[in-house]
Amino acid sequence: MTDAIVEISGLNKAFGRLEVLKGIDMTVRRGEVVCIIGPSGSGKSTLLRCVNLLEEPNAGKVVVNGFEMTDPDVDIDRARRTIGMVFQSFNLFGHLCVLDNLTVAQRKVLKRDKDEAESIARDNLEKVGLAEKAGSMPDQLSGGQQQRVAIARALSMQPAVMLFDEPTSALDPELVGDVLAVMRNLAEEGMTMLVVTHEMQFAREVADKVLFMDGGVVVEEGPPSQVIGDPQQERTQTFLRRVLNPVHADE
Ligand SMILES: Nc1ncnc2c1ncn2[C@@H]1O[C@H](COP(=O)(O)OP(=O)(O)OP(=O)(O)O)[C@@H](O)[C@H]1O
Ligand SMILES: [Mg+2]
Repeated sequence: MTDAIVEISGLNKAFGRLEVLKGIDMTVRRGEVVCIIGPSGSGKSTLLRCVNLLEEPNAGKVVVNGFEMTDPDVDIDRARRTIGMVFQSFNLFGHLCVLDNLTVAQRKVLKRDKDEAESIARDNLEKVGLAEKAGSMPDQLSGGQQQRVAIARALSMQPAVMLFDEPTSALDPELVGDVLAVMRNLAEEGMTMLVVTHEMQFAREVADKVLFMDGGVVVEEGPPSQVIGDPQQERTQTFLRRVLNPVHADE
């Protein structure tokens, strides 16, 4: 029995002599939203990048949607097709309109015909509240709109899991809410999501499980009411004091 979509065990990653991940174990089950929080440099992005093998682990096992990513014989292209990824920087194709940004990989990678790809693209633009921007160029959109396009693009590949790496941290504060609202809707629709975020309110309200990482290990994990609301570890407490009340961090 396994409804695990992402299963990580004993994951180690070093860059030269710098050990960045030191034995990570974690599971994301179907329909679950797992948020990863933790200080800068704690290994959050590296962990996410090991999930789709953008970084190659030194040890441990990563299984995503039934594909053993760490097996040298895995069909990595097929495996990656089941994983959607949204980064801090949106990485849209600047020379393509929004609709084409959403259809190009569907057509090239999934071999969908134009009509089907466009129909899926339009559904997803609708979902992120940008149906009327299909013909716009990326540079005609705000950062928040571009990020929502990036989310719609990832969704158009119909992934089994979506990975988000601080999707709102490059945005002006007034644009953050729209992107979080889209992510919240996705979660409510049952999308399986692994989200690195500094948005504690989002994590608190949307996550099924929160992992606090520091120094390449998971220091504390559990429901948000526990990890954010009533952290047991001193490192978690210190981190949360700092992010929740930055002005008074030193008091
Ligand atoms: N390609 C790389 N080569 C060498 N060192 C790297 C590389 N990528 C990351 N690191 C180092 O690994 C550590 C963890 O980096 P990572 O980006 O995973 O942290 P993070 O938790 O995502 O931080 P942030 O909150 O700032 O995004 C850092 O010390 C970083 O400098
Ligand atoms: Mg990072």
